[in-house]
Amino acid sequence: MPRFDEGRPEMTLEEFRLLRDHVYAHCGILIQENMKFVMERRLWPRLEALGIQDFGSYHRYLRYDAQRNVELEAAVESLTTHETYFFREPAQLKAFCEELLPILEKRNAHTRRLRLWSAGCSSGEEAYTLAMLLKDSGRFNDWDVEVIGTDLSRRVLAVARRAEYGPSALRATPPDLLERHFIPVGNNRVRVRDDVKAWVSFGHHNLADVAGSQLVPRTDVVFCRNVMIYFDQAARRRVLGVIRDRLCPGGYLLLGHAENLLSLGADFELVHLKGDLVYRRPDLPGGEGR
Ligand SMILES: C[S@@+](CC[C@H](N)C(=O)[O-])C[C@H]1O[C@@H](n2cnc3c(N)ncnc32)[C@H](O)[C@@H]1O
Repeated sequence: MPRFDEGRPEMTLEEFRLLRDHVYAHCGILIQENMKFVMERRLWPRLEALGIQDFGSYHRYLRYDAQRNVELEAAVESLTTHETYFFREPAQLKAFCEELLPILEKRNAHTRRLRLWSAGCSSGEEAYTLAMLLKDSGRFNDWDVEVIGTDLSRRVLAVARRAEYGPSALRATPPDLLERHFIPVGNNRVRVRDDVKAWVSFGHHNLADVAGSQLVPRTDVVFCRNVMIYFDQAARRRVLGVIRDRLCPGGYLLLGHAENLLSLGADFELVHLKGDLVYRRPDLPGGEGR
């Protein structure tokens, strides 16, 4: 039986496991048992909003209510972190610019088309960062360029589309880039310039949805940074299958610096750049496959 403390029900271990499994099945995010109290604290406002008395009833609501899909999004929203900022992990971005962009320029010279995917883009800083780097490289200015940002959370995607940011998002942005790619809009906030925005689009996508991933176009590079750290090995393996499928043969995958594929035996080649380690989908025999 749930114990009530200052009007707030305690989540039993069984309820925790049911809710954890439900969230995991939806999006691959695995909440550890030592996070039970955090889950309880973060989900409690959802129970209050719905007038639900205990976590068992909340779990039944998530499974059977007509509004269950809307509520599942709200639950996942309250359990995920969207931390991000412009020009995050600069050493990796430097290697991307100096070592991968020349390869991609040469490789795609016949199509003059370049597509990048920021998978788990949060509020858009990563996708805009990539578009800014492509612009500044001067290599692709008359190419067909598209940076696609996708995320599970519709709330952060709305922020991404608005393209207005405050000091926290800009904390690692070099002053010359701030000057070149943003317009001040007052209250210490700036907006991404239209020429950069024109290269970027955003869409809702759950990386755990293997069938839905077919809607994501094939891309030359995927950045999937600081997303799979919340997944277990099985979910990572599934998501890497999705990413591999959506990469052009010979395309690159860049992960966050705390992540690697070493223990996954995934179907990627490890590429040692001078400034970073990245992963590559092997070419088809004969270098075909586009
Ligand atoms: C910590 S942010 C990372 C943002 C950015 N990639 C970066 O490194 O700065 C993680 C993002 O992954 C998203 N996410 C988590 N699980 C996801 C899933 N199954 N499908 C798509 N996005 C997911 C979250 O909504 C969140 O916005």
